Amino acid sequence: MASKSKILIVGGTGYIGKFIVEASAKAGNPTYALVRDSTLSDPAKSQIINNFKNLGVKLVSGDLYNHDSLVKAIKEVDVVISTVGAGQLADQEKLIAAIKEAGNVKRFLPSEFGNDVDRGHAVEPAKSAFTVKVQIRRAVEAAKIPYTYVSSNFFASYFLPSLSQPGATTPPRDKVVILGDGNPKSIFNKEDDIGTYTIKAVDDPRTLNKILYIRPSGNTYSFNDLVSLWEKKIGKNLERIYVPEEQVLKNIQEAPVPLNIIISISHSAFVKGDHTNFDIEPSFGVEATQLYPDVKYTTVDEFLNQFV
Ligand SMILES: NC(=O)c1ccc[n+]([C@@H]2O[C@H](COP(=O)([O-])OP(=O)(O)OC[C@H]3O[C@@H](n4cnc5c(N)ncnc54)[C@H](OP(=O)(O)O)[C@@H]3O)[C@@H](O)[C@H]2O)c1
Repeated sequence: MASKSKILIVGGTGYIGKFIVEASAKAGNPTYALVRDSTLSDPAKSQIINNFKNLGVKLVSGDLYNHDSLVKAIKEVDVVISTVGAGQLADQEKLIAAIKEAGNVKRFLPSEFGNDVDRGHAVEPAKSAFTVKVQIRRAVEAAKIPYTYVSSNFFASYFLPSLSQPGATTPPRDKVVILGDGNPKSIFNKEDDIGTYTIKAVDDPRTLNKILYIRPSGNTYSFNDLVSLWEKKIGKNLERIYVPEEQVLKNIQEAPVPLNIIISISHSAFVKGDHTNFDIEPSFGVEATQLYPDVKYTTVDEFLNQFV
């Protein structure tokens, strides 16, 4: 059997990054995390760093803004996964330049982990945020770097604990606000599962230069059906307050940062249906549960049980 690829994660101590680092190490891939020195000594990050050490992850000192550190780290590995956050998305150009110079990378996964930014109907300010990811896609392709773009749709722990009610920390028990008519289907994937599918894809020829969509049937719900599922669990019907799209657009314009970003991302998924309003064509994409039917992912139904 071919040996497992060595994987470098840039942004591994971030929200989704830590799940991907863990999945990589647990899958038996030699795993490297590029970490800034300031992060290594940050008490707030010590638990994540200690977990990495326990998992046998190799911590590599470096910075997205230090070209030599990037090239040196990249030369050690076969695959580079970026999980940098919003503030660094555009600067992944620096990572692309370092990958080109190193010349050894078999696969690059830029920081995506959301909806397919080439096929959305987002309005501002989400639109601009997604455009940055589009620009990075085009730069990766122009540089002829082998890639996989992971379209993981919503992180379950971001949206389900509040049933996407801004400001709430638990799912509603009296009334629920629904953007639009509640009929378009959205997808909610548990972060560990996103890590598992991402790592399975890195050595898979079927995902080469493709978008890997994580679209499990058990995690695909219209907002109306999501509310019905929750109502069944708590044995009570909620008052459903529907916000017409026109009003949603007005709310986005009037909301302060970052609420306007959150509502515009919700508008793209819940009103426009951007997670599911197109078919995955073999020319550009593959679906994770079809490629890896052996993975037992956590369903939305199972996920919600913890809040009952
Ligand atoms: N689908 C969804 O529901 C959803 C939700 C949120 C995010 N996302 C997407 O997921 C991706 C990752 O976002 P996130 O929220 O997980 O990111 P995040 O928590 O902000 O983490 C960013 C990571 O980048 C690291 N970093 C920052 N500056 C760096 C530098 N100069 N050099 C090296 N590393 C640096 C940070 O290090 P420190 O640990 O030291 O800060 C951290 O590890 C993004 O593409 C985002 O759009 C999707």
